[in-house]
Amino acid sequence: AANPRLREVLGAITRHLHAAVKEVEPTHEEWFAAIEFLTKTGQICSDWRQEYILLSDVLGVTMLVDAINHRRPSGATPNTILGPFYVEGAPRYANGANICLDHKGLPTLVRGRVSDIEGNPIAGATLDVWQTNDDGFYDVQQKGVQPDYNLRGLFTSEADGRYWFQTVKPRFYPIPYDGPVGKLLKAVDRHPNRAAHLHFIVEAQGFQQVITHIFTPDCPYMQQDAVFGVKRELVAEFQEIDDPQMAAEYGMPNPFLLVE
Ligand code: DHB
Ligand code: FE
Repeated sequence: AANPRLREVLGAITRHLHAAVKEVEPTHEEWFAAIEFLTKTGQICSDWRQEYILLSDVLGVTMLVDAINHRRPSGATPNTILGPFYVEGAPRYANGANICLDHKGLPTLVRGRVSDIEGNPIAGATLDVWQTNDDGFYDVQQKGVQPDYNLRGLFTSEADGRYWFQTVKPRFYPIPYDGPVGKLLKAVDRHPNRAAHLHFIVEAQGFQQVITHIFTPDCPYMQQDAVFGVKRELVAEFQEIDDPQMAAEYGMPNPFLLVE
């Protein structure tokens, strides 16, 4: 059966592709190199890696598609990129637990409150969090090197909407750049680094899912995230706390960093 939506999409892509070809006037060799690039991109794939998604990410298409599909009222937490390193089945912890199992990095206490758009607390929301370790790798990139589920965990908001957990300060890290997309970035003089961040998926019954990050404000790649994921509202303060009493209350070393 004919697919009118597909006809529309194919028409638009063809028009824009022709316009691009007319603009750059490629040689046969250049066009063949482009086809070869796409072929190689399709060949790299593992349980956590899909090179076409990476391509979509570095071209800013992933963020654009997300923006089109998740227009939220002002005041709502915006989405940002999911990335390829999310895994299901992370351990569910009680609030206050430490997700950093390899004890590297700057101890950080993250606390916050899940609320609806009017500011009413949402109890029983699930927060699924994940980040790289202090060497800039996710656990799934270093199986056998990092403990399984290092820096991943599920938390549940309390009756007042609050949640809190211990982690370490995220650092910037490169997206996988040993494949065709990495080569492409290098060829156009682009770096592969993501601005330092902590991933969140927040879900609560009756509400839209939020896929987002918290960014550190002092990362050198803040203004030039390789996948265009940074949004102003998502940049948090990482406050230095020197307070033995508060540290003891949360089981943190003193001093520590606080994000809220
Ligand atoms: C992330 C990693 C990527 O390689 C990518 O393309 C997009 C996002 C990430 O984990 O944040
Ligand atoms: Fe990430």
